[in-house]
Amino acid sequence: RTQPKFQNALPIPEVIDARQGGLFNMYITQFEQELGLVDAAGKSLKTTVWGYNGKYPGPTFVAKKDVQVQVYWYNHLTANGDGTGNPLPHLLHIDESIHWAMEHVENWEQYGVPVVTHLHGGHTESASDGLPEAWFTPNFTKVGVDFKKGDDEPYYYHNDQEAATLWYHDHALGITRLNVYAGMAGFYILTDDHEQQLKATNQLPADPYDIGLAIQDRMFTADGQLYYGAGHNNHDDSGEEVGISPEFFGNIILVNGKAWPVLEVEPRQYRFRMLNGSDSRFYNLYMAPGLKFWQIGTDNGLLPAPVVHNQLLISPGERKDVVIDFSDPVLWGKTIIVRNNGKTPFPNGSTPDPNAEGQIMAFRINQPLNTDFALTPVPSSLRTTAMFDHAGPANAKVRKLLLFEGTDEQGRLKAMLGTIEDGALDWEDEITENPDMNATEVWEIYNTTPDAHPIHLHLVSFEVLSSQKFRLDFEDPEEGVVAESSIRLLGQPRPPEAGQNGRKDTYPIAPGEVTRLVAKFDREGLYVWHCHILSHEDHEMMRPYYVGDMPD
Ligand code: C2O
Ligand code: CU
Repeated sequence: RTQPKFQNALPIPEVIDARQGGLFNMYITQFEQELGLVDAAGKSLKTTVWGYNGKYPGPTFVAKKDVQVQVYWYNHLTANGDGTGNPLPHLLHIDESIHWAMEHVENWEQYGVPVVTHLHGGHTESASDGLPEAWFTPNFTKVGVDFKKGDDEPYYYHNDQEAATLWYHDHALGITRLNVYAGMAGFYILTDDHEQQLKATNQLPADPYDIGLAIQDRMFTADGQLYYGAGHNNHDDSGEEVGISPEFFGNIILVNGKAWPVLEVEPRQYRFRMLNGSDSRFYNLYMAPGLKFWQIGTDNGLLPAPVVHNQLLISPGERKDVVIDFSDPVLWGKTIIVRNNGKTPFPNGSTPDPNAEGQIMAFRINQPLNTDFALTPVPSSLRTTAMFDHAGPANAKVRKLLLFEGTDEQGRLKAMLGTIEDGALDWEDEITENPDMNATEVWEIYNTTPDAHPIHLHLVSFEVLSSQKFRLDFEDPEEGVVAESSIRLLGQPRPPEAGQNGRKDTYPIAPGEVTRLVAKFDREGLYVWHCHILSHEDHEMMRPYYVGDMPD
């Protein structure tokens, strides 16, 4: 197959304007969509995908700070696409050998596919957070133990946080990687008065020059259907597909659901909200002729001042809010390719194929400048308020946490979380992280594995304090039990890189390093923290945590 590049127009997801608040219906269904793939004869192919309101990626919510939004999430993965007819089977192979939503449900196939939507980066109440065990099947015939909403109770998003690029995606236990792979993801843009002001005064690009870019790698069968699995150490001894693999890396790059798209642009500044919505792939983005990324924001808000990057590293789950300036006259008529040289796995794996996943998308500077909109050189100052509201690390409780690589009963690689005190822990082990309500805590996360893991905490925006190399010995190398007195910190702690010192909810922790982050835990109830490599998250690299007094 020769898949053409930079011919499909970049899709811009339709917007749900929720700035006045209100109640919205989101229907999760199965449908066919053109992802820009062609067959050997050049004929365009359709792919069966899942999405929200008939779209992959789902529509983009635009919400406003302190204006509450309510959403009914409907699981309409049924034959007629409207909740009637037989529940549909999963598009992909469910690995029943790992912990997963319906592992204790007999004849689970008859109930259909469990789903639950999480607003990633949202300061959301626990009952609306989309916890992994708050899943539900079509018509709620089966629900998970953490499902706290009645059948007709919407999810509440209070939006009591500053302007940021959030995203929503599926989070059902043990099949998150499959549900997201099938298409269940979309943007949720939060704005506020300050950001509106920056746009109104032409300091930041406004619509239509403010565009989300969701980058996802995929594999496809010859007839254009989603393919997830073989070639990924994904078979048991008999050669049968068993599902979970240490990582997934696809060779076809989709941006907003199109393969290697192009965006035709005016010679001006654009704002791109980059999201890595991939399973395992880290992207290290760069553009050929000296074009730069002016990073203006992180996962959860604006930076104090822009940070200029020649290369932009973005790990699964992270967002980087950037401005790119196409106004230099030498760019006129040119096609600028966004390339990727992020190693897989990151940072010590193999280099991407420069003719496949080494390319992401292109910008073609060929549109006449619309002078109704002023040019918007990036301002030197982006914030007027403090970035964090936590009390600071000085008197905070310090937790020592662990990233560990073990093996499961079948001998498969199994990345895990844990504590330095208890060693590696499974999803179902007792809760060990139990911050008091409104406590500020420092989490020191020791990565003892050979790879970087993008660690995501629900609920909070955290501040990365430092990273530092360390050495330690295991008392029990199978179970990840650390000989605590063996921990040696090496060299000096490093502050986060420029652009990673903002409000974060996901941060890649380098192998052999401990990263310290500080956050304020200011909503009561059950939440989770996990690796955002979805194949890790689904295979035990996720732990519940609880804020406030735990129920017995
Ligand atoms: Cu984006 Cu718990 O996930
Ligand atoms: Cu991981």
